[in-house]
This record gives sequence, structure tokens and C-alpha cells, in this order.
Amino acid sequence: MSNKEVYIIVAVDCKNGIGKDNLMPWHFKKETQYFKEITTAVKDPSKKNMVIMGKNTWYSLPEKYRPLKDRKNVVLTRDASLKIEGVEVSSSLEDAVNLAGDDIETIFIIGGATLFQESLSYPNLTGLYITFVEKEYECDTHFPEIPAKFSNKQLLKEDEENGVKFKFMLYK
Ligand SMILES: NC(=O)c1ccc[n+]([C@@H]2O[C@H](COP(=O)([O-])OP(=O)(O)OC[C@H]3O[C@@H](n4cnc5c(N)ncnc54)[C@H](OP(=O)(O)O)[C@@H]3O)[C@@H](O)[C@H]2O)c1
Repeated sequence: MSNKEVYIIVAVDCKNGIGKDNLMPWHFKKETQYFKEITTAVKDPSKKNMVIMGKNTWYSLPEKYRPLKDRKNVVLTRDASLKIEGVEVSSSLEDAVNLAGDDIETIFIIGGATLFQESLSYPNLTGLYITFVEKEYECDTHFPEIPAKFSNKQLLKEDEENGVKFKFMLYK
């Protein structure tokens, strides 16, 4: 079993919406930048972080941005025939986490809803980076209820873009 910290990172609207038609419901440069910073930053410069995502989230990323650079990308699917160039494909969350060798510092589970649902009951989940977007969007995909055990809530920063406010929180 991996001894690394494992975090969910997600952005939710004020009704826990996270997606629409297999895309993000909103586009904010500051939120994208924050996601990039949190998932890329390492304390030890000889290491990098791992991002684990479901197959739908992989295909929802614009082609020019995938694989997400400077991070080890792992895509989850139960389709054993799926091969994606430059990416590790795994058939379970546990197997994906176990792909993290000594060169990996922190593991981030980046979505989508199906994978988040399973990850919330993953016994070694360290915490959740949640960006609260203080507006309602039309969504067909939602983030599940946050388990009560993640009761230590820290406001990391607040920001605003195009009149929409965000709160960047860390739950542990
Ligand atoms: N707001 C945010 O922060 C955020 C972040 C990420 C994604 N999203 C949004 O979320 C939506 C996509 O969510 P989604 O629930 O449809 O898709 P998803 O979780 O990205 O992908 C689901 C697929 O991934 C595979 N999978 C997931 N968990 C697995 C596991 N534990 N083991 C093996 N395979 C697994 C399965 O593929 P197979 O069917 O091939 O087996 C499953 O059908 C999009 O709208 C996206 O934009 C939002």
C-alpha cells in the first residue's frame, strides 16, 4: 500500500455541480491556474506529483493540454484494451495509487464524479482541495456529500473573476 498523501481536488458550484455534457460548466483562468499550481508544486524538485482521473475526465481535457504536463497522468478504465500514448492506464484506484514509485511526491484524484464517489471512501484519502465557485451553473454531474470525518476546514485563499467569487478550501 502506498504511504503517500492522496488528495481529491475539485471545483464545485453553489449546488455541488461539477460538470455538464462531459465538460467543465465554467472557465476561469484563476481556477485553472490554481489547479495547475496545487497539482504540480513539489517540495522535492527531484520528484513530481501524480494525477489520477476517470476516462471521461481524460477525454474532457482539451487535446493540447493532455497529458497534464509535469505530472504523471493515470487514467482509470475497466476497458483492458484501452491504450493512451504517454499515459498509464489502470483498472482500479488501488492499482493506480500503487503505480506511484519513489519519484512521486503527492497523489491527486482529479475527477470526475464517478471516481470522486469511490475515492471518498478510499481509506487513505488525506483530504480534499475544494474550490467553491459562488454561483449556480447548469450541471448534469455533481460532487457527492463530503464525509463528516473531514472536519478540519481551512480557507486557503479567496479570489474573484468576472464578478464571480471563489473560495479555495482544504478539508482534512
Ligand atoms: N469541477 C471539477 O472539478 C471537475 C473535475 C473533473 C471532472 N469534472 C467533470 O466531471 C464530468 C465527468 O465525470 P464522470 O463521472 O462522467 O466521469 P469520470 O469519473 O471522469 O470517468 C468515468 C469512467 O472512468 C472509469 N472509472 C472511473 N472510476 C474507475 C475505477 N475506480 N476503476 C476503473 N475505472 C474507473 C470508467 O471507465 P470505463 O467505463 O471505461 O470502465 C468510468 O466509466 C465531466 O463533466 C467533467 O468536466 C469536473
